Amino acid sequence: EKEGYAHFMIKEINEQPKGVSETLNRRLNKEGNIELDSIKITKEDLDKIDKVYIVACGTAYHAGLVGKYAIEKYAKIPVICDIASEFRYSDPFIDENTLFIAISQSGETLDTLAALREAKRKGARILSVVNVVGSSVARESHDVFYTWAGPEIAVASTKAYTTQLTAMYMIALHMAITKESMSKEKYDSIIEELKNMPEKIQKILDDYVIAQHLADTQFNNESVFFMGRGLDINAAYEGSLKLKEISYINSFAIAAGELKHGTIALIEDDTLVIALATQDRLYEKMLSNIKEVKARGAYVVAIAKEGNKEIEKSADTVIYIPDTMDELTPILSVVPQQLFSYYMAVARGCDVDKPRNLAKSVTVE
Ligand code: M6R
Repeated sequence: EKEGYAHFMIKEINEQPKGVSETLNRRLNKEGNIELDSIKITKEDLDKIDKVYIVACGTAYHAGLVGKYAIEKYAKIPVICDIASEFRYSDPFIDENTLFIAISQSGETLDTLAALREAKRKGARILSVVNVVGSSVARESHDVFYTWAGPEIAVASTKAYTTQLTAMYMIALHMAITKESMSKEKYDSIIEELKNMPEKIQKILDDYVIAQHLADTQFNNESVFFMGRGLDINAAYEGSLKLKEISYINSFAIAAGELKHGTIALIEDDTLVIALATQDRLYEKMLSNIKEVKARGAYVVAIAKEGNKEIEKSADTVIYIPDTMDELTPILSVVPQQLFSYYMAVARGCDVDKPRNLAKSVTVE
């Protein structure tokens, strides 16, 4: 039931603090360390694993891209993240020293399931990150990490994504501490910050009028560009997918450094550009990219961390997210993008929960 909300999508967007909190807290023991239920990946297992494949479709794939970043950074194992329908028809380097991670909200996506079976046949250990308990992907995996998002009804995935991100950070942290590739202090500090995420998401949700107002002034656009660098581009891929699938606006996301290699040709007066600039290390670079598109007439909405006031000089509008560690920003930066997409679709009179041509679960090729 929609419990007073106009659509399932906005209800589910608002359920994210709870989903992230459940996903995290159910797996923290009383010492505050991560315990992955029945997942028994030992230090010996991890020492053998020389690469990880993360495979998924759509939003789950976008969560996988962030997972790749976290596993490489924390656990220092190389990761390949692939789209399930591509993985199936490539010649992946899979053997018994590979850990294969499938991410799927429904656990029934056919391409993801087929990729999993192929990896299993080649001897990989299969870990899945799934929301629906007892689904096919879960049943066919060696280990399962359940995201505690609760049922997701809207076709556009929202709370599944933020809980999948939480799961990927936890898996990466667990691998890192087991492999001893991270200090206990660092591990504890990231877990502490993950615990703050529900409250920080809530703060963005409480300010929903910012996204609503933006949508009310921008809903007539027929194309929107998203850009970012580093982890921001992954969150931008997700923001762009949300917008196109429910509002039918032609949108795509590009790595901001790629602008000059083609896409900048499309920028003209009043082109709407959503620029994510949450990564401290890349902040100055993003400011230059914002100036580049502004110089061609773009209307720039920046998403930045609180306190980065300087960006107000370059962007037309700034949406702030609460300050956090750079590597955790996607959990927060996706939220204003979800809200923006939602209000754009509402303003355009679209069928938000059941967009045309799409199904909640893709069980065909
Ligand atoms: O159930 P799954 O997570 O395997 O689904 C994967 C995609 O079909 C799904 O995320 C899709 O991209 C959503 N409509 C995105 O909002």
